[in-house]
Amino acid sequence: MIIVIDGPAGSGKSSTAKELARRHGIRFLDSGALYRAVTLRWLEKGRPGREEFIELLTDIDIRTEADAENFRIFINGGEVTEKIRSGEIAQHVSRVAAVPEVREFINRYMRDLVKTGVYIADGRDLGSAVFPDADLKFYMDASLDERAGRRYKEMREKGQNVTLDEVRDNLASRDEMDRNRAADPLKQPEDALVIDTTGKSFDEQINEMSEIIQKNSFSKTAITKHLKS
Ligand code: DC
Repeated sequence: MIIVIDGPAGSGKSSTAKELARRHGIRFLDSGALYRAVTLRWLEKGRPGREEFIELLTDIDIRTEADAENFRIFINGGEVTEKIRSGEIAQHVSRVAAVPEVREFINRYMRDLVKTGVYIADGRDLGSAVFPDADLKFYMDASLDERAGRRYKEMREKGQNVTLDEVRDNLASRDEMDRNRAADPLKQPEDALVIDTTGKSFDEQINEMSEIIQKNSFSKTAITKHLKS
């Protein structure tokens, strides 16, 4: 069983997915974190060329620990949960994520993972390419200014030294790359429920989505039944 939330960078998908996971007692899957982790590996390996990096993918062992609150991620045994949030990774991740072999590698990991439990996942192409048969699909969006403002606040609170302009430019260029790449671009699936969060409070959007989840019988009983079957 899987619920997916797609949408552009900074649209609030991760925090929403996390809160919905908590409320409904399911697990959170942060697909962007997987792309960030692979990007960290690419940087650590000295930014190899495409062919060389594709070869190196076979040596990457990803492990994740997910509950409703956290999505911890380990690469070859070492935890990288915090490390992957750096500005340097944000700068390069869309380029690494545009490589079809990287996408195949991560998609395989995610499809195997969701066989082990009930997940709510956030990403760019989950409803369109990775889980076309997802039980429920959301597409979250908000204006670029609003997304940049939120992401800027979040980064400053974590002590990162960035300007609002830098954050807005990074989001705009990632949007551009994510929407226009040849392999599985960011796309609104036809059967997704669109949630525009511009001007909405976090609680408002969570309540709206939570109600939809309830209506779609993602009640705790249904989930428990699914896990037992
Ligand atoms: O959600 P995020 O900002 O942590 O995602 C980081 C990058 O990963 C994003 O710029 C594009 C890529 N990504 C992707 O291509 N497909 C996904 N399903 C999730 C993320």
